[in-house]
Amino acid sequence: MKQIKKITCIGAGYVGGPTMSVIAQKNPDIQITVVDVNKARIAAWNDDDLSQLPIYEKGLDAVVAETRGRNLFFDTDVDKAIDEADMIFISVNTPTKTYGKGKGQAADLKFIELCARQIAAVAKDDKIVVEKSTLPVRTADALKSILDNTSNGINFHILSNPEFLAEGTAIEDLYNPDRVLIGGENIEAIEALVQLYAQWVPRERIITTNLWSSELSKLVANAFLAQRVSSINAVSELCEVTGANVEEVAKAVGMDSRIGSKFLKASVGFGGSCFQKDILNLVYIARSYKLDAVADYWEQVIIMNDHQKTRFAEKIVQTMYNTVNGKHIAFLGWAFKKDTNDTRESAAIYVADHLLDEEAQIVVYDPKVSPEQVYRDLDFLGTRTPEANRRLVKVVDDPYTALDGAHAAAVLTEWDVFKTYDWKQIKAGMKKPAFVFDGRKLLDRSQLETLGFKYYAIGE
Ligand code: NAD
Ligand code: UGA
Repeated sequence: MKQIKKITCIGAGYVGGPTMSVIAQKNPDIQITVVDVNKARIAAWNDDDLSQLPIYEKGLDAVVAETRGRNLFFDTDVDKAIDEADMIFISVNTPTKTYGKGKGQAADLKFIELCARQIAAVAKDDKIVVEKSTLPVRTADALKSILDNTSNGINFHILSNPEFLAEGTAIEDLYNPDRVLIGGENIEAIEALVQLYAQWVPRERIITTNLWSSELSKLVANAFLAQRVSSINAVSELCEVTGANVEEVAKAVGMDSRIGSKFLKASVGFGGSCFQKDILNLVYIARSYKLDAVADYWEQVIIMNDHQKTRFAEKIVQTMYNTVNGKHIAFLGWAFKKDTNDTRESAAIYVADHLLDEEAQIVVYDPKVSPEQVYRDLDFLGTRTPEANRRLVKVVDDPYTALDGAHAAAVLTEWDVFKTYDWKQIKAGMKKPAFVFDGRKLLDRSQLETLGFKYYAIGE
């Protein structure tokens, strides 16, 4: 197999952008082009002002500053980039289907198929095609069939190389991955991809498997992580009625080295673009093989997560004398976790929706999320008209403004900066009794109670 000199990545999103930036940094002799149909996104990746990159990730700007224009390029000409590449990563979105068979559960593979057809139509020489997107097990079969049947006798080697980075720590995760997983059949193609990563990842952490194990491992890894969050969230409710403290329980349980301490932080519910999507996909796959017990088992992780979000919203209503009608509730945080501007499936959206049904007035402050994004998220639910969302929700760029005159503060994202606020001053400006509902167990109970707040935290 010829040496890899040019790589193309289709999809300049949360995965394509950071992943290719780091691969380019560590492989300065390989030219990498990241392409996307979204012109505005590519323009933002090419912006001279690095604070305008379309994705906020700590350290990403420095990597882009070093590589962009050297061996990393962002472009909208997908055909040209496909034609020139020796290796093509597919890193497009694979959302949950919103129509037809599998609606609400199966992964929508239309973007993947479009990529495959475009590669087949444009390619004039052999290519290695790498699945970077998270895909249902056996998608490589479909990809191969499309590529083989619609191209002109060209050889395509398909590899699965799922991405395990988490948002907020993407660059750190890419620099120092627990493992890199490569699934495939063709030894030379596998070795070519291994070589890319071996520039910085210790060889023993690069593992190779067959295609189906690799595809399935990605779904299962996300399912296991989400399951831990749902497990501890289930325990949090039990703690609230029994007098146990979920943090103490998580510590005691997590110190067992067989269990481990990570992903045991009780919260208002997990969000993000992938946990729910990937578990629903796993459930769908299990059902399609008629494995109902397996499907039911994993589905419960989602049911518990939905319950946790609803429970938090209901706790707010119930505690505030069973009505929030016309009451001003300040939301601290809208992103699905700290250190990212991503709001996909954020718990904040669903808690807000519930409170808006009760006619609350919500004022949102998030250090990285724009007002347009907050309204887009609420409008997308379609629960009420866009006008009603704008009448009931305000988004401000200062936390003290959000909290001024509020009946309650609700912490929806664990941004560290929230801990540093002058809570004494905040209390003075709030309606009394001043409530704080901490969906992240972020703030200091004794400090807030000493100041006179009525403080509620998940699992206490
Ligand atoms: P994203 O929506 O941020 O980015 C996908 C990009 O692909 C979009 O910019 C879109 O315009 C582009 N695109 C779609 N079809 C295209 C086409 N035919 N040609 C060119 N561009 C096209 O999505 P993401 O968060 O980067 O996720 C991508 C995949 O990676 C998903 O399968 C996801 O499950 C997986 N994943 C995501 C994360 C994460 O942290 N976000 C982590 C691991 C894996
Ligand atoms: C997750 C996985 O951690 C990544 O390995 C994976 O690559 C990625 O999904 C993906 O496939 O998209 P991400 O969603 O970016 O990454 O962030 P996480 O740190 O996993 O957090 C997910 C959600 O769970 C967040 O809402 C977070 O607040 C919540 N969470 C996490 C908890 O409530 N408690 C915890 O203990 C951990």
